Amino acid sequence: MSDSPISQHNQSGAPKSLEKNPSNEQKTQMEQAYRELQRKMRIAKLGEDIKHKILVLSGKGGVGKSTVATGLAISLAIKGMKVGLMDIDITGPNIPKMLGLDNTDLTVENEQIYPAIGPHGVKVISMAFLIEDPDKPVIWRGPIKLGAIQQFIGDVAWGKLDALIVDFPPGTSDEPLTVSQHLPGIDGVVIVTTPQEVALLDSRKSINFAKTLSVPVLGVVENMSGYSIKGKGSPNSIVSLIGPEGTPIECKCDEEGNWSMILDLFKKGGGLLAANELEVPYLGSLPFDPGIVRGGDDGVHRIVAEPDGDTAKAFDIIVENILNSLDGDSTNTLKII
Ligand SMILES: Nc1ncnc2c1ncn2[C@@H]1O[C@H](COP(=O)(O)OP(=O)(O)O)[C@@H](O)[C@H]1O
Ligand SMILES: [Mg+2]
Repeated sequence: MSDSPISQHNQSGAPKSLEKNPSNEQKTQMEQAYRELQRKMRIAKLGEDIKHKILVLSGKGGVGKSTVATGLAISLAIKGMKVGLMDIDITGPNIPKMLGLDNTDLTVENEQIYPAIGPHGVKVISMAFLIEDPDKPVIWRGPIKLGAIQQFIGDVAWGKLDALIVDFPPGTSDEPLTVSQHLPGIDGVVIVTTPQEVALLDSRKSINFAKTLSVPVLGVVENMSGYSIKGKGSPNSIVSLIGPEGTPIECKCDEEGNWSMILDLFKKGGGLLAANELEVPYLGSLPFDPGIVRGGDDGVHRIVAEPDGDTAKAFDIIVENILNSLDGDSTNTLKII
């Protein structure tokens, strides 16, 4: 017989849980069972309450997954969407710091956690809010970590959202697997990669991983794709530059004499190559932008600091492409920069 409080019986045959004075242990068990049931109901409801759920993955760490996840969330919010951002990195959560929310206290009401409100109203939830000393690494053993993720999904009061972006820690597959098993109606994954051709190997790994999760690949983003430079010359003149490894570059000034270009720092096109070879959409590229590093340290996202800058524009194109692919438009409507 199961030892659930619901199915235990006393000597008279009456269920113990219906006794007038249940023991403290029984009460705790009943409360736990009730909480678990409520969580399951909330998780089931996430399917309808959150229209789109997008996971951001990469084959390895440090390629800009968190930067892309935060950028996508803010760009979608700028378009007027209600957006949530879930930082599933339990051992090194850094999204609150990137968004200037690191000293935020979360509200808990009726056993639900209310997310912090970031730029443009993005609702943010991260383990960083729940750990006391962000400088101390949190060491979780596998099952405890996965249990925490389930609670994370089921105990947050997201409300109605147009999109939820989920960011993951580097180099492990447990977290995306747990999220894919517990978050209903995932639209797909965005794979972040770097321009080098070796990125193909990493992207292939991520795409195969998405297949094992049975979630579609929305596309590949190439990050740190080139360096944006600007200058002034005579109106309509040609400016000559010497690029990396002595490559000559020419650039045309506009009618006011302004010129700007993206300088390729590495061999370009790893992301596009990966997308083509692996037959998934290419969503666009993000330039290498020192302002992104500064913004991450200062807690002001690059898109917020410079809404008309190259990085914000690049995010805008990526987001348009993602929205097209979510709406079921064919990949040939994708814009490529
Ligand atoms: N396009 C970019 N230009 C310049 N620095 C970047 C860019 N993308 C990410 N970074 C920097 O690279 C580092 C790693 O980025 P992060 O988003 O934390 O990667 P991940 O989440 O994949 O580990 C951070 O310091 C971030 O500011
Ligand atoms: Mg990260």
